[in-house]
Amino acid sequence: MKVVPLSEGSAIAEAAMAIPYPDDAGAFMAGHLTGQLVTRTRILRHWSDLSIAVVDDDGECHARGLMVPLDATVAGRDPFPDGGWEQVLIWAIDDLLEQRQPDTLCALEIAVHPDAARQGVSGLALAGMRTLARDRGFDRFIAPLRPPLKANDPWTDMADYAGRLRDDGLPQDPWLRTHVKAGGRLRGIARRSTTVTAGLDRWRS
Ligand SMILES: CC(C)(COP(=O)(O)OP(=O)(O)OC[C@H]1O[C@@H](n2cnc3c(N)ncnc32)[C@H](O)[C@@H]1OP(=O)(O)O)[C@@H](O)C(=O)NCCC(=O)NCCS
Repeated sequence: MKVVPLSEGSAIAEAAMAIPYPDDAGAFMAGHLTGQLVTRTRILRHWSDLSIAVVDDDGECHARGLMVPLDATVAGRDPFPDGGWEQVLIWAIDDLLEQRQPDTLCALEIAVHPDAARQGVSGLALAGMRTLARDRGFDRFIAPLRPPLKANDPWTDMADYAGRLRDDGLPQDPWLRTHVKAGGRLRGIARRSTTVTAGLDRWRS
């Protein structure tokens, strides 16, 4: 397996963007207004050299890792904002419009093809994303991550959830653990990272 930028070729980019979520992925994510800024066309037009695919020797695509650049030096910005995922995405779009020079690369999503699940592919994608950030001269690589399994534990505060450790000192949550194993450090809880708007009926179901 190797990690390549989506700019490597349109076939790879198309295959990467077509990777579906697993059937049991949180359907509650629909209704996320800011997420509408991340269209497939926009990622490919503006940031295909900053996003990656994990491909095997036959050229088959097993994962994508989407990233956006932003300038964290703009006055009033904090590279680890409470607004998390949404805040960095809005800054990235703002910087694109204002043509600012970015200093920070931010992971927006890693998706592994369900057929390749639980084989360590996400760790490969993450390592490739981090290497790309370094090779392209960014000062910082950040990841406002959403632990998918937190949805099974809705009544636990995120700080308590993220603080649960195994005997070996690594996070109990597997997605947090993958990032810590890759060298990541937990910088805080972004409590307003993703705001999903939906009616009560939908939330209750
Ligand atoms: C989350 C996701 C990227 C994980 O990818 P993956 O390649 O299957 O994960 P890995 O094989 O690298 O596993 C990493 C760790 O998580 C564990 N794990 C993976 N899926 C799991 C699951 N459904 N339940 C419990 N543990 C799980 C693995 O056992 C492994 O644990 P370890 O540290 O003890 O070795 C993948 O499930 C996915 O694409 N989900 C949909 C998109 C998404 O939610 N992305 C994350 C937010 S952007």
